[in-house]
Amino acid sequence: MKRLAGKTALITGAARGIGLAFAEAYASEGARVALADVDVARAQESASEIGSSAVAVEMDVREQSSIDNAISEVSSHFGPIEILINNAAIFSAAPITEIERQDYNRVFEINVAGTLFTLQAVARHMIENGTKGRIINMASQAGRRGEPLVAVYCASKAAVISLTQSAGLNLIPHGINVNAIAPGVVDGEHWDGVDAFFAKYEGKERGQKRREVASAVPYGRMGRAEDLTGMAVFLASDEAEYIVAQTYNVDGGNWMS
Ligand SMILES: NC(=O)c1ccc[n+]([C@@H]2O[C@H](COP(=O)([O-])OP(=O)(O)OC[C@H]3O[C@@H](n4cnc5c(N)ncnc54)[C@H](O)[C@@H]3O)[C@@H](O)[C@H]2O)c1
Repeated sequence: MKRLAGKTALITGAARGIGLAFAEAYASEGARVALADVDVARAQESASEIGSSAVAVEMDVREQSSIDNAISEVSSHFGPIEILINNAAIFSAAPITEIERQDYNRVFEINVAGTLFTLQAVARHMIENGTKGRIINMASQAGRRGEPLVAVYCASKAAVISLTQSAGLNLIPHGINVNAIAPGVVDGEHWDGVDAFFAKYEGKERGQKRREVASAVPYGRMGRAEDLTGMAVFLASDEAEYIVAQTYNVDGGNWMS
């Protein structure tokens, strides 16, 4: 029996990387998945590789009208949304003395406001439809503690953990479970950008930071997007009914809590 048979899921930032791996895993567990992304061309390519159980939707989590349109589009295509993964996010790094307000606003607009207002819109949609839904937010090990060069991104992911707790407590009376996943270091295109930041601020050669973080993971390598899909399927499944407002580390042992 497929664990998400017949469910409709909306995944933000699913054109590539971890969001795409979630979409593939959900589709193979029987769900209909909407791959929502600002990069709609890439989301379309990814959705067509998954097949008829997937659809691409243009969505910019910075814009309320874009969030609302995406929800209507998905629900008219597949029916009411039962699972949301708030996965879209951007990374940024700089020493404290060089952080620019504009960059702070850019990161918080996507990682925090984008997560909150997508969660809010989907929660309203679930309540209107009487759906006992699941919402999964993407936090990070970066939200568990600060890092010298990553203040803004770390703070944004700490905010995601806190929002998960508040929303989880507020929405469970409606039968909506809100939880989060905190990955460690997951290889992929996202890491091209991370590596470039560290090359700039720590004078490292390109690729050096990747090798350093990989060798520091207790498991012995960086994560792969596929390492996270088991938790994402579990949190959306009936087995996770009693799990509320939690953030789970899936990080090869990088962080223990
Ligand atoms: N890769 C890692 O090491 C790592 C570690 C911890 C947490 N995470 C988190 O996991 C999630 C996925 O990470 P990833 O590595 O796949 O990242 P990624 O950069 O590969 O993918 C992010 C996706 O979000 C989309 N996006 C960006 N801005 C958007 C917006 N305004 N509206 C809609 N979509 C937007 C991008 O187009 C892209 O497809 C993120 O929340 C990230 O913070 C990643």
